[in-house]
Amino acid sequence: MNFDQLWADLHPIGRSADSGGYHRFSWTGADAEARAWFTEAATARGLDTRTDRNGNLWAWWGSPGPGAVATGSHLDSVPDGGAFDGPLGVACALAAVDELRSRGFSPARPLAIGVFVEEEGGRFGVPCVGSRLMAGEIDPERVRGLTDASGLTWAEAMAAAGPDPEMIGPDPDTLGLFDVFVELHVEQGRALEDTEHPVGVAGSLWPHGRWRMDLRGRADHAGTTRTIDRADPMVPLAHAVLAARAAAEQHNARATVAKAHITPNGTNAIPSLVSTWLDARAADRETLEAVVEQVRKATEQAAHDHGVGLTIDAESFTPLVEFSHDLRDHLAEIVANRMPETAGPVPILPTGAGHDAGVMSGHVPTAMLYVRNPTGVSHSPEEWARPEDCRAGMLALADVLQDLLSRSGREDFR
Ligand code: GLV
Ligand code: MN
Ligand code: MN
Repeated sequence: MNFDQLWADLHPIGRSADSGGYHRFSWTGADAEARAWFTEAATARGLDTRTDRNGNLWAWWGSPGPGAVATGSHLDSVPDGGAFDGPLGVACALAAVDELRSRGFSPARPLAIGVFVEEEGGRFGVPCVGSRLMAGEIDPERVRGLTDASGLTWAEAMAAAGPDPEMIGPDPDTLGLFDVFVELHVEQGRALEDTEHPVGVAGSLWPHGRWRMDLRGRADHAGTTRTIDRADPMVPLAHAVLAARAAAEQHNARATVAKAHITPNGTNAIPSLVSTWLDARAADRETLEAVVEQVRKATEQAAHDHGVGLTIDAESFTPLVEFSHDLRDHLAEIVANRMPETAGPVPILPTGAGHDAGVMSGHVPTAMLYVRNPTGVSHSPEEWARPEDCRAGMLALADVLQDLLSRSGREDFR
């Protein structure tokens, strides 16, 4: 199976020997290796590979042009991420081309396989940068100025990797070529395991966002500063963590404080600055706003009580995505036909995870396939999918692409 070879070749790239997790951050050496893996695999298949103005990669089966079917995902990871989130969709897309060729299928229109840059926001903080830039949903000037943990800007990192950061921005020329986009992704939950389905279809993506909170205190000696004299930003940080937890429980939402930079980060020094991030998600916008407001208020109160300054900035926000019902239902039918032995309707799943498909859906009829994840764990070295489910996902994607590529004109999937 060609998928196995693709997967084996990608496996060591950016992998930590200690944890088995991945550190594939945009515009780093590991990213360059992962991109080279894609380009080599595409070239070996006779696909014409191009880099768009935003650094996204596109491998074309057939002449690049309008009326194309697009698929793909991303190769970047969160810190110590899993092997499947992103790469599964890319490897399955390449393997699906092999599968369709082995069926003797010739497409009536071109297929583009995409690799989007910085989907996770693992290096520069904002997720789905490649698709947002392409769709004109983020200011290129802002992107050029985004910094990583070391203070390096996007512009510097991108230029060092090769592509010209002055070129980034809306790309209607590329986006306009696509009639439909389908992203295959590992499920980040256990719904498919619970319902005994190897493959499911996306219904919606919850609205979600990231809020940066800077807590400014006063650096001082841990051994000599009386408690009453302290302006310690760690205390409101602790309140923020607890408030996020409480708000998530209360609203049946998700709220996470998982990242903090502590300055100067010494055991015996009260910090001068804590920068921390709230990641919040909910089924609807009102609930999300209530969650964020609750965390904001609790953190503001604690900062005030402890003489700490606070600024809060929304770094990214993605509204609710409801995928095209026609296309979603069409995919579910194709999946059901492939797996007639699977009992019950193909699950149509909402998720709290974000995807480039969510950005694409605002511009092109878009759908997603999910591959079963037995534990549901994701953004972790433990993320996993059974080989037979990966194959089932790849075959389902091949069926979907075969169907879409057989049509000669723009289809009305809205
Ligand atoms: C991306 O995977 C996200 O949902 O954070
Ligand atoms: Mn992810
Ligand atoms: Mn992903």
